[in-house]
Amino acid sequence: MKKLVAVLLIMMMVFSLTACASEPEADALPTIGVTIYKYDDNFMSFVRRAIETAAVDKATLDMSDSQNSQATQNDQVDTMISKGAKALAINLVDPQAAETIISKAQAADLPVVFFNKEPEASVLASYDRAWYVGTASAEAGIIQGELVSEQWKANPDWDRNGDGVMSYVLMKGEPGHPDAEARTKFVIETIVANGIEVEELELQTGMWDTTKGKELMDAWISKHGDAIEMVIANNDGMALGAVQSLNAAGYFAADKFMPVVGVDAIPDVLEEIKAGRMIGTVLNDAKNQGSASFDLAYNVAMGKDPLEGTSWTFDDNKSVRVPYVGVTIDNIEFAEEAYK
Ligand code: GAL
Repeated sequence: MKKLVAVLLIMMMVFSLTACASEPEADALPTIGVTIYKYDDNFMSFVRRAIETAAVDKATLDMSDSQNSQATQNDQVDTMISKGAKALAINLVDPQAAETIISKAQAADLPVVFFNKEPEASVLASYDRAWYVGTASAEAGIIQGELVSEQWKANPDWDRNGDGVMSYVLMKGEPGHPDAEARTKFVIETIVANGIEVEELELQTGMWDTTKGKELMDAWISKHGDAIEMVIANNDGMALGAVQSLNAAGYFAADKFMPVVGVDAIPDVLEEIKAGRMIGTVLNDAKNQGSASFDLAYNVAMGKDPLEGTSWTFDDNKSVRVPYVGVTIDNIEFAEEAYK
């Protein structure tokens, strides 16, 4: 009998030891389901990196590229939920799809943090376990407008035909995206509010994309040539395309110049500012938006208050708004630091 008890005890010990050994440490970390609307977006690649950095030793990320398809993203969210995600961090493809994602999260009793593409306030308010991390979209337009106004006034020769009117072309981001709509509206309103007369030569969407920005600028140069006096882009990706096109058309050499301005302050654009091929940009703080998105999602995955241990605050709409900052050659080091 004694022998039998001893054998049983040994068997139990071996069993519990193997059970421990087979449990990888990662299992102890909560899984957070993350979608990025498309990996092939310059600015979002920096936000993605910031999320990955923030997650180290804290959570396992189940991250997907939604490849600019809302249908794909909806399927990815279903899969994340069925695989046991404890929270969702969602960069929507279509800002109008927040309702769909919320209904999936709600059905699974999961919290969801949206980031970068802002859902409508009423939709966010419809679920008490939904939050948003992003920016105040209008702010980028206002800062960009101030930057353009100041430099336009300081450089009277930019008014090539001397008619006292700023003839601009504007590259818009994705139509219907709150950032694209607000930046477009507020940049022009701010320039006008500064007493500058403007003429819109072109306004078209370049979908945040460098190749599309280049194509637009190629077409506009051949149509308007030197009548264009200012190139305003809703983001740096498109501004880079404009610079490539202008470069090929002989600008930025000898005394041929064209002022170009963007938003984001991605490293490639900081190089263009240093080389004198862009007059400025607006820092869209990828690092802080990425880490705040993760911190909130992590907190709610752990059943804590979303803002616990962070220095962020919510506005009236359960949203964290990371501030924008204007960037010119004068404070370029500051922007370089922000992207390190
Ligand atoms: C904006 C950013 C764009 C693009 C877009 C995607 O905030 O300025 O470059 O990344 O988000 O939603």
